[in-house]
Amino acid sequence: MTQTEDKTISSTGDTPLVPMEKIVSLSKRRGFVFPNSEIYGGVSGIYDFGPLGVELRNNIRRYWWWSMVQINDNVVGIEGNIITHPRVWEASGHVENFVDQLVECKNCKRRFRIDQLPAENLEQNKCPVCGGELSEPRLFNLMMETYIGVVEGERVKTYLRGEACQNIYLDYENVLKSSRMQIPFGICQIGKAFRNEVTPGNFLFRQREFEQWDLQFFVHPSEMEKWFDYWKERRFEWYKSIINHKDRLRLRPHDPDELAHYAKKAFDIEYRTVLGWQEWEGIHWRQDWDLSRHSLYSGHDLSYTDPETKERYIPWIVETSGGVDRTFLNLLLDAYEEEPPSGKDKEGRTVLRLHPWFAPVKVAVLPLQKNKEELVTTAQDIHNRLKRLMVSQYDDVANIGRRYRRQDEIGTPFCVTVDFQTLEDQTVTVRERDGMSQIRLQINELPAYLLERVTWNYS
Ligand code: GAP
Repeated sequence: MTQTEDKTISSTGDTPLVPMEKIVSLSKRRGFVFPNSEIYGGVSGIYDFGPLGVELRNNIRRYWWWSMVQINDNVVGIEGNIITHPRVWEASGHVENFVDQLVECKNCKRRFRIDQLPAENLEQNKCPVCGGELSEPRLFNLMMETYIGVVEGERVKTYLRGEACQNIYLDYENVLKSSRMQIPFGICQIGKAFRNEVTPGNFLFRQREFEQWDLQFFVHPSEMEKWFDYWKERRFEWYKSIINHKDRLRLRPHDPDELAHYAKKAFDIEYRTVLGWQEWEGIHWRQDWDLSRHSLYSGHDLSYTDPETKERYIPWIVETSGGVDRTFLNLLLDAYEEEPPSGKDKEGRTVLRLHPWFAPVKVAVLPLQKNKEELVTTAQDIHNRLKRLMVSQYDDVANIGRRYRRQDEIGTPFCVTVDFQTLEDQTVTVRERDGMSQIRLQINELPAYLLERVTWNYS
């Protein structure tokens, strides 16, 4: 399957938008996401990922990396550090420009970003929660400060990176020299970013520590339009290919007054949830902002000499910058479904219709009964074989229907059941999550059957 092919796994029809509380509750109950430092009361806008969450995140990252770095000959990857030289953030414009305007309610003390206040509250200077009077707007820098060094007075203030992509500009010349890339080419990275968000919230949507994936694609200025359109379309198709509800995705151009300080033009890829239409990834026309500024601030000329024409210029940059956490959240919101009781499932079920590639557990192996030793040992043997190839879970607790539902709820695409017939003819039942259909397969056919369906298909 190629990356632009449609990977819709089942038709979910016109299902309603999923309330955020359902995903928050599922995430905690089943071990996808936990509030950070919960025993101390938690920290607003900071989360940890549990056993299933880390599997899902790794699968998401891996698929992005495969489709952006591995299959593109003109793209390479790096992994830069969170802490950099402090001058980086002066050059990037973040110290000066990475600010939100906020107002505080004089009555309830809540803080609001001006650009997120409803127009009528802004006009009437009225708190949207309690109706109290709002303060004068104040500027608030989002960069998180930290210090390098141990001796008080000699410590140097720097910042946790406010956007991960800066490392790419810092490493650009080293990549160019070491990997023999020529313009046009791209550098990708997945990494953490930190922002003192004024209004963190909506679960993973707006956090203070989060992970971004970036492509920075370096081009000759005359080719900027072509490559900007190319990556904009490709990224849009990429997101379309990983969701079930295609109608909830759109591309929206930025108005001039919402452009980031580094962008001359931008589009957001947006996904519709209970929060409304919200940014998932930004496609930014960064032009020569980054390499020019770093040349100026470092005194190191980052211009490029074309090996054939010998023309010397500062490359322009197309950026595609999205969030691992927003992908994680949007995939859960997109995949979650509560099915009413039906002929196939008398009790009804919650099912996560994640693509098998993303599913944290690929297969569950279930002996029909726990008290029959032969069933248990055969199931454990199968599990022990499969776990070397993919994430497999062995489960013998509760009746088979409840065990199926437990797996449906975390998105496990296949359940393998070992029953009495298995002991006679070495076949097992393979139940598929979405349609709940079942087939029988020989045990030795299982690895190939499952691998073909749950891992990247490179053809
Ligand atoms: N280098 C460009 C840049 O950082 P951005 O639009 O500020 O652009 C890119 O961020 C992506 O990072 C967003 O599209 C979103 O997916 C993710 N993101 C930004 N702020 C976030 C936050 N506070 N919490 C979670 N994800 C965030």
